[in-house]
Amino acid sequence: TINRVPDSFIFAAEVLIKPQDNTSLEGLYKSHTMFCTQCEAEGFRKITFYLDRPDVMSEFTTTLVAEKKRYPVLLSNGNPIDRGELGDGRHWQTWHDPYRKPAYLFAMVAGPLSSVEDSFTTCSGRQIALKIFVEKKDLDKCDFALQSLKKAMRWDEEKYGREYDLDIFMIVAVDDFNMGAMENKGLNIFNSAAVLARQETTTDASFQRIESIVAHEYFHNWSGNRVTCRDWFQLSLKEGFTVFRDSQFSADMNSATVKRVENVSTLRTLQFAEDAGPMAHPVQPASFMEISNFYTMTVYEKGAEVVRMIQTLLGPEKFRQGCDLYFDRYDGQAVTIEDFVAAMAEVSGRDFNQFMNWYRQAGTPRLDVEGSYDAACRTYTLNFSQSCPPTPDTAQKQPFLIPVKMGLVGSQGDLPLILASGNSIGIAGQTGSEIVLEISEPHQRVVFEQVEEPPVPSLLRGLSAPVKWHFPYSREQLKFLMVRDSDGFNCWDASQQLGKLILQEMISAQVDGRDVELDTRLIDAYRPLLLDCSLDPAMVAQTLVLPTEALLSEEADVIHVQAIHQARQRARLSLAAALASEFEQAYRSNTSVQPYAPTADQIARRSLKNMALAYLVLTGEETFIEQAYHQFDTADNMTDAYSALLSLVNADFPLARDLAKKALDNFYLQWREEPLVVNQWLQLQATCMLPGGLERVQVLLEHEAFDIKNPNKVRALIGAFTHGNMVNFHRSDGAGYRFLGDKILELDRLNPQIASRQLTPLTRWRKFPVLQAERMQQQLQRILAQPGLSPDVYEVASKSLK
Ligand code: TRP
Ligand code: ZN
Repeated sequence: TINRVPDSFIFAAEVLIKPQDNTSLEGLYKSHTMFCTQCEAEGFRKITFYLDRPDVMSEFTTTLVAEKKRYPVLLSNGNPIDRGELGDGRHWQTWHDPYRKPAYLFAMVAGPLSSVEDSFTTCSGRQIALKIFVEKKDLDKCDFALQSLKKAMRWDEEKYGREYDLDIFMIVAVDDFNMGAMENKGLNIFNSAAVLARQETTTDASFQRIESIVAHEYFHNWSGNRVTCRDWFQLSLKEGFTVFRDSQFSADMNSATVKRVENVSTLRTLQFAEDAGPMAHPVQPASFMEISNFYTMTVYEKGAEVVRMIQTLLGPEKFRQGCDLYFDRYDGQAVTIEDFVAAMAEVSGRDFNQFMNWYRQAGTPRLDVEGSYDAACRTYTLNFSQSCPPTPDTAQKQPFLIPVKMGLVGSQGDLPLILASGNSIGIAGQTGSEIVLEISEPHQRVVFEQVEEPPVPSLLRGLSAPVKWHFPYSREQLKFLMVRDSDGFNCWDASQQLGKLILQEMISAQVDGRDVELDTRLIDAYRPLLLDCSLDPAMVAQTLVLPTEALLSEEADVIHVQAIHQARQRARLSLAAALASEFEQAYRSNTSVQPYAPTADQIARRSLKNMALAYLVLTGEETFIEQAYHQFDTADNMTDAYSALLSLVNADFPLARDLAKKALDNFYLQWREEPLVVNQWLQLQATCMLPGGLERVQVLLEHEAFDIKNPNKVRALIGAFTHGNMVNFHRSDGAGYRFLGDKILELDRLNPQIASRQLTPLTRWRKFPVLQAERMQQQLQRILAQPGLSPDVYEVASKSLK
């Protein structure tokens, strides 16, 4: 605090810092040979004294001075305006950013970087220089990100009318980075895993992730930078909206249904779990100890769902008008979520009062639906009941405004929807056989008339609201929806519900020590999909992957890890045996001779082919195991090599084990110079579900390929094990929990943000059987007792023990 300051003055500060010793990767730090910064959320204050809040906005001019030989490239935000030599081997470069911005968007980089360059002509004819800076050895891995950037720039002009505003746009790739990437004005800094790609080293999933992250950071130029957040409680103002925008972009660039299935799977598995756990918080949190802990699935993914619901309620045209008004009115300002919603209210004349509950109340609402057909009157009645479980922020919830997009499916497809008079329910839109109802009260009823046959309702199409909805479908009805629903997403959703019903029955049997065979209805439902060439292979693959262990755990009241694993594994083995010839046919018909390209079409076919291969290997037949090895050995792309290796590594047969070992060794020898591929090698072994997982991870921690200071490696080995290998992490002697406790304490001294994120699995102790729950709590208590704990870890550990 500086006391008695005059009304106006210049404050100059000279600070001495040691970025080379900064392992938190926040502020100014060193990654290999390069200096770089990460200032969001409160990192700028680690560089110099400043009013480090997002509503303090200034025009930045930055001069970097450095030894020219070691740091030939000197970058900061905005445009380069001047440079020179100091004559003592040092040089300098000045940058000026004409747009006022908060300090969290400041960035600078210095290092021996090479660049790939291109240009983009904006809709108003301005030429923008595009540059991606990387280490020289990675110059051949920039093209995909560059193309993605250009697509994103064009898309934002066409879809949102947003043009880029500086003369230069730069991306820098760094290996040591806490998150995916950062939208610093004109100078995005990327985790190298979120930008570098080429077919030999990068899987299809990573290509798609890169496309969406490049777009996400670019879109922040308007949703985040030109219009920014007043304070960190508004984080979802930029993140929820930008995730919504990047999902729309990915849907437009690829298959919209597949993209929606992927988003909903993540939401249901990870965000719903967060919303049911001790760190549950509203999309607009009311308090926090450490803001870094609030870059969450809730703020990002649920925040995007809330924006999506606004679009559903308004329709695309009004929604676009609302966005235009928002960008126009608040350009250059630091604003709130309420300001965003007010723009939507103004263009539509809608009242958003009740809708704001989505921002202010945590927890996943539950929507129970029941239906009855009156054959005499030919009416169909739906009864809706909503509720929301208590969360740490609120015990009693106000009802939510839930948009329910739905149809009624008859034997020949969707039936026309005619609302009976006297319905009091709100309607957001209707097109013949599809309607968007607005459920706003705890209990509501809607009646349709002139319904000529008993229908099966297709509810919450595309998951029109982030709720857990339930309708008492029979297994036959779900099979019916899988083929008859006109909504592709809901066909998939029906398959998931069917899979869940069947698996949940098998899991209960396991818990009681009984044995239940796989319901053959699942086999019958899957078989025709594998043979039908008119279907999108990506959707077939999504349908035939049974609900994951993580999803089954999220939906269970008590998580019986072993039973879940055994039941799912048993179901997979039965499917493999029953459908081997269909899988073989799908494998063959989706094997392509075209040169590799990461296009939606090819990605779809590879996903089905490799899903089929995984099932074939599970049959234990030697020809299939050898086929997997052959695919691994001869693949010209990482997707096919990695998938084949994954199926071998998880197959419990002597031949598969021998070949997996040989393949893993060869893989490492081939790729040891490529850190991103080595990380995939670590991850693949960390998620191997065969017994002995913890021991394998402990051996790998000592391997030259591992480095606890690098977040990507921590995520690939420790994170993948604790999140993606439930049977081994939750082994009954608690050794997995002790292991994680040790690693959290070690990490916390180096990098609190990463330590705190790795804590998540332990915080879910309430859902486990009592003995396991106690062992998990013991580790949390042990962590909390550690003197000098970071606020990051303290917040998560203490809240999860409350
Ligand atoms: N704003 C970044 C995004 O696009 C998030 C981010 C990057 C971040 N690095 C970070 C958040 C470090 C906290 C700490 O989503
Ligand atoms: Zn973001």
